[in-house]
Amino acid sequence: MNKAILSPSMMCVSEWRGAEKTLAALEMGGVERLHMDVMDGEFVPNLMLGTESIRHMREISEIPLDIHLMIRNPEDKLGWFDLRPGEYVSVHVESTSHFQRALARIRDFGALPVAALNPATPLCMIEDVLGDVDAVLLMTVNPGFAGQKLVPQTLSKITRLRKMLDDEGLEATRIEVDGNVSFENAAKMRAAGADMFVCGTSSIFSRQGGLMENIRHFRSCIGEEALG
Ligand code: DX5
Ligand code: ZN
Repeated sequence: MNKAILSPSMMCVSEWRGAEKTLAALEMGGVERLHMDVMDGEFVPNLMLGTESIRHMREISEIPLDIHLMIRNPEDKLGWFDLRPGEYVSVHVESTSHFQRALARIRDFGALPVAALNPATPLCMIEDVLGDVDAVLLMTVNPGFAGQKLVPQTLSKITRLRKMLDDEGLEATRIEVDGNVSFENAAKMRAAGADMFVCGTSSIFSRQGGLMENIRHFRSCIGEEALG
């Protein structure tokens, strides 16, 4: 089982309420990635983070990014983001007719391609590109908004995907889960084979506790030792 990666969803952090203070806590908590949701108001019914927010985030934090592109025809727009080696970059199979080209272009930038699927999209859609990606992102809610409820059938989808990857000898390929990854759901997702967790309003940014305390609690829910 791969060591877990926590990827806090930065759209849950209001820039007007001191993103820099939040980042200091995330760094202290040892989070491995920062999840950046880019939404174009067309592929998803919302507008969120863009090229400038990504540029700014790289300036104020050393934590590598995990960029989730929810935009139409991402292969034509990858050049806008100044992608860096080692960054995860997700593109949706539903967002383009040239999916493999989009994944290959991400690799050309030295970044790590991730195939993303909406809850209703079957796993067979990515069968032929599994060898081209470093991770598969399963949306566990319909994309566009924080604070939604889990689409329950996505839990068994994680189990099926883990088996598919392992059967192909792709044990190192990660499964990222995004949407209502609450403390309780994260434990189930981890047991099903997920190893990269987008932490949003239902976990580390919930008002249940302080940020550091929530990060520690999250790690213990998925059976990992706290770092910070
Ligand atoms: C969309 C986002 C959200 C999100 C997760 O891609 O990544 O799913 O902010 O947070 P919650 O815990 O609110 O679902
Ligand atoms: Zn996301």
